[in-house]
Amino acid sequence: MKISFKLNSELVTVDVDPLQPLLTTLRDELHMQAAKQGCGEGECGSCSVIMNNLMVNTCLIPTIQAKGAALVTLEGLRDTPKGQLVINALLEAKGVQCGFCTPSMVLALYHLLDNRTYADITPTDKQIRQALAGNLCRCTGYGMIVEAAKIAAKLWGEV
Ligand code: FES
Ligand code: FES
Repeated sequence: MKISFKLNSELVTVDVDPLQPLLTTLRDELHMQAAKQGCGEGECGSCSVIMNNLMVNTCLIPTIQAKGAALVTLEGLRDTPKGQLVINALLEAKGVQCGFCTPSMVLALYHLLDNRTYADITPTDKQIRQALAGNLCRCTGYGMIVEAAKIAAKLWGEV
């Protein structure tokens, strides 16, 4: 079945089983490899992308659900000024961790900062940790990622 959606500002059409997980379609058909297959059960968040301005777990979403939607993956975000800001903040705070969790952490921080009601107010630790709640890392913890969110928040209006 042909399914079209917007992917990082480009209209794409795939011809796949409509029930195929969106993660498989992104990785195998569209060569978007930043989202990763971790648990495959909606628990870890390593497969996250932004769909219609919501963080979603693509391992659980059938591709048909993306029909007509707007998707943002790390590939689309990383060369934008605000995407770069989040990545640089993670580097500065030493919050870049493994290749499984980091892509979704970048997206989660971007989503949090981009959707603040008051863009000039730095989110609290609690708000940042809530925004990261769907993105698990059991290796190193979240302290440096929370710091990165604060660094990026302060510079958000300047890029
Ligand atoms: S792989 Fe999708 S939530 Fe873990
Ligand atoms: S899952 Fe990436 S560092 Fe823990």
